[in-house]
Amino acid sequence: MDKLRVKKSLGLSGEIYISGAKNAALPIICAGILTGEQLRLSNVPDLKDIKTLGLLLEGMGVKINFADNKMDIDAAGLNSCIAAYDLVKTMRASVLVLGPLLARFGEAEVSLPGGCAIGGRPVDQHIKGLELMGADIKIENGYIKARAKKLHGAKIIMDLITVTGTENLLMAATLADGVTVLENCAREPEVTDLANCLVKMGAKISGIGTDTLIVTGVEKLHGAEHQIIPDRIEAGTYAIMAVMTRSDVILRNAKPDIMGAIIEKLSLAGAVVETGQDWLRVAMKNDQDICSVDIKTLPYPALATDMQAQFMALNCIANDTSTISETIFENRYMHVPELCRMGANIAVDGNVAVVKGVHNLTGALVMATDLRASASLVLAGLVADGETIVDRVYHLDRGYESMERKLQQVGADIVRIKG
Ligand code: EPZ
Repeated sequence: MDKLRVKKSLGLSGEIYISGAKNAALPIICAGILTGEQLRLSNVPDLKDIKTLGLLLEGMGVKINFADNKMDIDAAGLNSCIAAYDLVKTMRASVLVLGPLLARFGEAEVSLPGGCAIGGRPVDQHIKGLELMGADIKIENGYIKARAKKLHGAKIIMDLITVTGTENLLMAATLADGVTVLENCAREPEVTDLANCLVKMGAKISGIGTDTLIVTGVEKLHGAEHQIIPDRIEAGTYAIMAVMTRSDVILRNAKPDIMGAIIEKLSLAGAVVETGQDWLRVAMKNDQDICSVDIKTLPYPALATDMQAQFMALNCIANDTSTISETIFENRYMHVPELCRMGANIAVDGNVAVVKGVHNLTGALVMATDLRASASLVLAGLVADGETIVDRVYHLDRGYESMERKLQQVGADIVRIKG
């Protein structure tokens, strides 16, 4: 298993190019199942999760051509509606094939994704919505087995805000008979990007960007071209890196207008943040205290749970005490014991973590446990005295395209040790 060796790297400068959003690309690739024509995507991040989804679709007979951050998807020859456990267990977002398969082929057999490090990750809302649209769904031998002669429109009120739940039902509704009203939808920009792509494919959707999506089913969808939006979580991660290392970096190919909550917290921490249409500059003076920032993760437009671990790393070296409340997932503090091994002062009680800022962290051998936790350990390593070795970086590779290369470009002392 690869490791990253990270050493203290302060006062960095330069530009980092932000990749396309993983959590927009994953549902949009699944949307390719909804048509027999070619879906051509650009700004697709070159990540492990994207490749895993490609393998899953190729196993169903879908033609995938992925090179230079461009992906062409051709589902004309799709010959299987089964998403097998061996791939689904490594990438839970595979559940996003459920809605499209049911909508276009009337059947789907998708392994239950199972839990992951951050929580149980149930899919009851996905199933409830599809049943209201007329699907007959059984859970057998760890698989969701779904059948539907033809999905029909329905009024669905989500019991809680779920990103992939909203995305699965939105995709299913595009080919259903009649009108579907989806209420209490997730409003994450990645959901909006999916909706915009579906409209390019001929779907009839109103209320895009709001918590109520109204979909009028159509006979079929056609091919389209779509550019994936920039990854706001990747950009937020590097912005926090700039603050922690007292650097001055410009993030190119970013989308500041979907990063409001992140930018607000960066400013409260003391950063100077300038923004343009597709870039943001984050600067922090080297003799300036980092102000502690209280964090509460909530659905968009509030602060994303995917930014929690990274802001915790920032608070570890801030000038006061901060409170972090994780309201989305039940077990998203695995980075805490690893940060404490580096000298952080963090106490967790239920879903609340209290972080007392310390003057310095010390390098250590630490282990990544989930995608964003790994990022927080790299950030801590960049400010810690001595050397930090982050193990199990395959977690990082799932969501960050060449993190070490992008950080080296602004002068960070970080190398990958092939394992
Ligand atoms: C998406 O996961 C993202 N993944 C996650 O990003 C992100 O953390 C999460 O949304 C929240 O923003 C993708 O988009 C591929 P949810 P998702 O359904 O859709 C509960 C990353 O780091 N719930 O919005 O699986 C669930 O347990 C990943 O890139 C149900 O109870 O999350 C959780 O507590 C990690 N029943 C809450 O809702 C359901 O049917 C929100 O989950 C569905 C969800």
